[in-house]
Amino acid sequence: MKIAGTGSALPKKVVTNDMLSEFLDTSDEWIRARTGVVSRYVISDEKLEDLAIEAAKKALDNAGMTASQLDFIICSNVVNEYVTPQLSCIIQGGIGATCPCIDINCACAGFIYAVEIAESFYKAGRVKNVLVVSAEEPTRMTDWTDRRTCVLFGDGAGAAVLTPGDNIKSIKLSASSATDKLWQYRLLHPTPYITKEEVDVPLQMKGQDVFKFAVKAAGKDISRILKDMGINADEVDHYLLHQANIRIIHAIRDYLEQPQEKFPTNIENHGNSSSSCCPILLDECNRKGLFKSGDLIAMSAFGAGFVSGAILFEW
Ligand code: ACO
Repeated sequence: MKIAGTGSALPKKVVTNDMLSEFLDTSDEWIRARTGVVSRYVISDEKLEDLAIEAAKKALDNAGMTASQLDFIICSNVVNEYVTPQLSCIIQGGIGATCPCIDINCACAGFIYAVEIAESFYKAGRVKNVLVVSAEEPTRMTDWTDRRTCVLFGDGAGAAVLTPGDNIKSIKLSASSATDKLWQYRLLHPTPYITKEEVDVPLQMKGQDVFKFAVKAAGKDISRILKDMGINADEVDHYLLHQANIRIIHAIRDYLEQPQEKFPTNIENHGNSSSSCCPILLDECNRKGLFKSGDLIAMSAFGAGFVSGAILFEW
């Protein structure tokens, strides 16, 4: 397939590090130095589905297509207010599409997993045009009294329209179960048969373990897509990495021995918006005219699970 159009949408509320230090024992200096985040967009009175629909409409517009041309919609999402129906079905109605749709939850690697599913359906001859939307509100998962987690995240939605082509050169996915490193429990409704004690636990993270996993997984995934195509890291024009921590991005850059200008970032004013990071960054770079036709782009993401993945595609 090829990426024919991109779109993104953000909440209107911008929360700076200084605003966080008004109610948390933290500082702009600490957050900036340890994570690279300066401000983030945070859901207030918006609904996540409205951001997802806006991002999807912009991607369709950018691709010069209408919703009726879509054969499939894949939405990557960790949480939203609905347990059911699935977010992709809400997006389908919001953009006026009639095709089947599915949600996936692959944490921060969701966009890459979704593109792999789209590409596989395409190769099986089942679809031509697929809309992939990542819509995330991780600020609704964290404990806002926990300075170790809540300062990291922001919300938003990113989308891409995939159409027939041979621009996707390689995709590699991986998973290794580690449920004690990055997790959250949601309290389900009680029944007369539930006797064990249940608790509602906001996002918990062993930050340094996640950091180490991220650097190792991204290095391995990117090496695998390069090897698949028989190219080296120098031949890639742009590296779009999951925007979890600027120090993770720098460590991956050092591993690949590539110059900083190949690594566009938006973590400074977005924070980590989970699986939305990659498509939002893709859309921002696209709209800034950063990519030339024929440029090779490597995208890599990792997240809770652990899961990770990388894509190599030609613009
Ligand atoms: N402000 C001030 N101090 C802080 C803050 C804060 N916001 N957060 C932590 N600290 C303190 C800690 O309490 C600790 O103090 P102590 O030594 O007195 O106990 C000290 O800073 C160092 O804490 P560490 O956790 O060791 O700091 P570290 O350098 O590892 O940075 C961070 C923490 C930023 C979380 C880092 O480990 C990281 O980025 N990890 C990866 C996170 C990530 O990628 N998450 C992906 C989530 S994606 C998903 O799937 C939802």
